[in-house]
Amino acid sequence: MSNENILERERQKEYIEKCRDFVSAFQTAHGRFPKACVVTFGCQMNARDSEKLSGILVQAGYTLTDAEEEADFVLYNTCTVRDNANQRVYGRLGYLNSLKKKKPHLKIALCGCMMQEQSVIEKIRKSYRFVDLIFGTHNIFQFAELLSRTLSSEEMVVEIWEGTDRIVENLPVKRKYSYKSGVNIMFGCNNFCSYCIVPYVRGRERSREPKDILREIEALVEDGVSEVMLLGQNVNSYGKNLENSVSFAELLKEVEKIEGLRRIRFMTSHPKDLSDELIEVMQRSTKICRHLHLPLQAGSDRILEAMNRRYTKAQYLALADKIKHAIPDIAITTDLIVGFPGETPEDVEETIDVVRKVQFDNAFTFIYSPRTGTPAAAMENQVPEDILHEGFDKLLAAVQETAKARAALLQGRVMEALVEEVNDQDPAFVTGRLGNNMLVHFKADRRLIGKYVMVVLDTCHGFYYTGRMVDWMGQTKHTRLGKMVDNQWLN
Ligand code: SAH
Ligand code: SF4
Ligand code: F3S
Repeated sequence: MSNENILERERQKEYIEKCRDFVSAFQTAHGRFPKACVVTFGCQMNARDSEKLSGILVQAGYTLTDAEEEADFVLYNTCTVRDNANQRVYGRLGYLNSLKKKKPHLKIALCGCMMQEQSVIEKIRKSYRFVDLIFGTHNIFQFAELLSRTLSSEEMVVEIWEGTDRIVENLPVKRKYSYKSGVNIMFGCNNFCSYCIVPYVRGRERSREPKDILREIEALVEDGVSEVMLLGQNVNSYGKNLENSVSFAELLKEVEKIEGLRRIRFMTSHPKDLSDELIEVMQRSTKICRHLHLPLQAGSDRILEAMNRRYTKAQYLALADKIKHAIPDIAITTDLIVGFPGETPEDVEETIDVVRKVQFDNAFTFIYSPRTGTPAAAMENQVPEDILHEGFDKLLAAVQETAKARAALLQGRVMEALVEEVNDQDPAFVTGRLGNNMLVHFKADRRLIGKYVMVVLDTCHGFYYTGRMVDWMGQTKHTRLGKMVDNQWLN
């Protein structure tokens, strides 16, 4: 990290102290610590940013809560990838306003991708005047400073940067999960897919130094993390802008060496940049999970070109084939868009054809949403709603069919699951995640959360399984928890 960024980190620490003074005064006045609620919209990057923002709030002395109604400080970390993400934020702001009327000291803050849009800021300044703080994606490292300014001001604080080349390392983090964590390896995106707003709101691609990434993962492992998800909008182009350029595959090889780390995931891979070197590293790895999220978006060459995806249907199919051949047990998932300008029902058939040929294990299917400022939003041939919904339903049915067929192949298999949480429907059950990203629900003690157990996949419910915990030999475990924890395979 440069000297300038080290100084910045120290500066922010001083602001955390200032916030602590406010928190002490609050505690004296109210007889309790103030509570903060951070709500995350959007993708894994935002989720990781929220952990950093929460880390600063905790260091400032706030207690975190999931309940907005009991909070003294509410922060929405927003997403703007599709319009419905924005509408959800506006809808919930109305509710926050009603809370603030009952509790005037409530401070409301907004950050994240949506705040990088000029039109959004204008709208909030005009129609949501009760908001206290707005900042964007490029200056989240300044949060302590902005918080301290907000706490001592009655005016709306607005601080948005157009872009940045800065990466401030080692700010405090409050993780949501004790046993797994996201790790940013790069920020921003240079691809400019013609429908996508991300490059405009997240800025140009910037990679973190490998040593900073490795040090962060080592510290996470030391702190009980056994699974990491390496995050970037296009991890396959990691390292290109570094002084000593490093490939993503080379980074993975280094991450693999970290002792105590058990599972490695990453998101997202752009098909155009997926190298043979990466396939080889995945194939040899014992830690990289057998799951690849490989967004297709569309199957028609004409649409792919208009989307500026820079691969053809045939190239995508060949790539998927190559990956499946090299790593037969891999699960491939994808993102699909229906209704891109000019897309015809025949084009959607091409997408469905790829879904059937690749046999995706799962897919997120989105209806195209025009984003102001992107080339696609200015295209004339926007697709009428009725045609769009027809295509969407057909595509969804095809995806469900292949996902179900793929899941059914695992029936009766014994697989390793990381126990993630208590099942929300039945507290006697827990939810575990398999290496291929599939979920399995089974009866187990909640004290196994964060541990790896073997599970037999008994009943397929489409996208997930219910099962039973077993030992390595496939025998049902009847042992009491105390005994099982002594068993080496649980650690
Ligand atoms: N960097 C990742 C995706 C980030 S956005 C990648 O390239 O794969 C996540 C998904 O949102 C995209 O894969 C795309 O399917 C979808 N998406 C992005 N912009 C969209 C838009 N304007 N309308 C509908 N879906 C969109
Ligand atoms: Fe958006 Fe394309 Fe970048 Fe993904 S690769 S974030 S879809 S511009
Ligand atoms: Fe949304 Fe920003 Fe992620 S727009 S999808 S939160 S990068």
